Amino acid sequence: PRVAVVFGGRNSEHAVSLLGAGSVLSVIDRDKYDVVPVGIAQDGRWVLASGEQRYAIEATVDESGPALALPTGEASLVALSPGRIPEELGTVDVVFPVLHGPFGEDGTIQGLLEMAGVRYVGSGVLASSVGMDKEYMKAVLAAAGLPIGKYAVVRDRDWRLDRERVLKEVQGLGWPVFVKPARAGSSQGISRATATGELAEAIELARAHDPKVLVEAAVEGREIECAVLESLDDAPPVASVPGEVLIRDDHEFYDFTAKYTEGHIDLDVPARVPPEVTERLKSMAVRAFEALSCEGLARVDFFHTPDGGIVLNEINTMPGFTATSVAPQLWAAGGLPYPALVDRLIQLALR
Ligand code: DAL
Ligand code: MG
Repeated sequence: PRVAVVFGGRNSEHAVSLLGAGSVLSVIDRDKYDVVPVGIAQDGRWVLASGEQRYAIEATVDESGPALALPTGEASLVALSPGRIPEELGTVDVVFPVLHGPFGEDGTIQGLLEMAGVRYVGSGVLASSVGMDKEYMKAVLAAAGLPIGKYAVVRDRDWRLDRERVLKEVQGLGWPVFVKPARAGSSQGISRATATGELAEAIELARAHDPKVLVEAAVEGREIECAVLESLDDAPPVASVPGEVLIRDDHEFYDFTAKYTEGHIDLDVPARVPPEVTERLKSMAVRAFEALSCEGLARVDFFHTPDGGIVLNEINTMPGFTATSVAPQLWAAGGLPYPALVDRLIQLALR
């Protein structure tokens, strides 16, 4: 089969996507699949990578984040006119959108592929868009009876017209709070506010990513993540072993640098929690997956609170996907190595 691996994208997680695509392209079985790498530039242009080095997407990460490293040298990028979709996409059997954030993980490209009648890896339009928008994600998770934290939504119009009222409402959550763009990922635009004086600035920071902002009451607890994978037969989706994210140094929270720079976190797999907590986490992860009608894979992020409770923080329909990202590591620990995971996802999409 012909597989288009699509990466990059028009959003702040562009470089994170390149890291994932670099990993996917380096392990995908080229005896089995004919691979067409397709990049989406920051400005939205779609480009085909061709030539001998087309799989060598070099990913570099420094303090300023992952750097763009599309193939260079022998590999030529065939720039298509703005807005054009490569014709080759119409002839591929399946698309693997290794894309995060808006215009990638939010149902837009999924809708485009539905319209074109092309199969693709991962969740469909609805699950992707619900998963991307933290307001609706929480509404759906709460409706399914899953435990979520306290939060407030700061809408663009309310903020512009009556910020005093918004600030007052948000204070009801207590301190500290985490202020987040409603539709972004990789902790971009997120900050922690410990007092009213810090709130306006935190909201403005988040608003640089999205005019809609969520303010969440901080949850004290250990950060534990669980991946979910759809089954190839009619069996229910399966949860991986949970892993605990241990922040090594003085990072205030699990922010962008901690996520993408070497040496800031350890993933403790399996998470050192009692067996009944593991079972609850796994069962909630699957319930979250099903509540959104996810397909393919997802990663569900929890807090395990000191009193033994569990709070579901969020679900990600296209979690970070390098070989050493959390979801692939959790599957590898459970006996499904990264190359097999990539193959499984393509097979799920081809069914
Ligand atoms: N949004 C990033 C890629 C994640 O959830 O892993
Ligand atoms: Mg997320």
